[in-house]
Amino acid sequence: MRFAAATLLSFVASALAYQVTSPSETKGWTNQGPQTLTWSRVDTDKTNFTVILTNENRAILPTNNQVLAALVDGTSQTTLSVNPPSGGWPLGSGFRVNLVQDEQNTNTIYAQSGQFNITTPTVSSSSGLSSATHA
Ligand SMILES: *[C@@H]1O[C@H](CO)[C@@H](O)[C@H](O)[C@H]1NC(C)=O
Ligand SMILES: *[C@@H]1O[C@H](CO)[C@@H](O)[C@H](O)[C@H]1NC(C)=O
Repeated sequence: MRFAAATLLSFVASALAYQVTSPSETKGWTNQGPQTLTWSRVDTDKTNFTVILTNENRAILPTNNQVLAALVDGTSQTTLSVNPPSGGWPLGSGFRVNLVQDEQNTNTIYAQSGQFNITTPTVSSSSGLSSATHA
């Protein structure tokens, strides 16, 4: 039985060939403006997917499975600029981005990112300060 289960798992893994390459454990998102989603796919993958933001912690993400982009064409691009949900990006750790079938079928997951953080960006000293001194 163990052997059969392992075989089934590897089959499922290869059938779900979409892969989220960013965000990831090492490359999270910030809460400033659109964020970048990148993925890879193979020819047998579905042609489109819907992007949802998930977190198991309701204190961080009160409403789970936030739709970030619907019916994205996965064939002609492998990167997408994702706008924040209404109300802006939540902050914290333990987020995942799922590529799912559509808004009605968020449990049909094609791919899942690694866990990542959404943080406030570290402000660089050169940005925005010079214009303020003219006031
Ligand atoms: C999205 O893909 C599904 C099949 O997975 C297809 O039935 C549907 O027409 C596609 N929708 C768009 C907008 O491309
Ligand atoms: C993400 O946040 C957690 C909790 O604050 C922290 O422990 C972890 O180091 C952070 N990961 C990255 C890549 O910054």
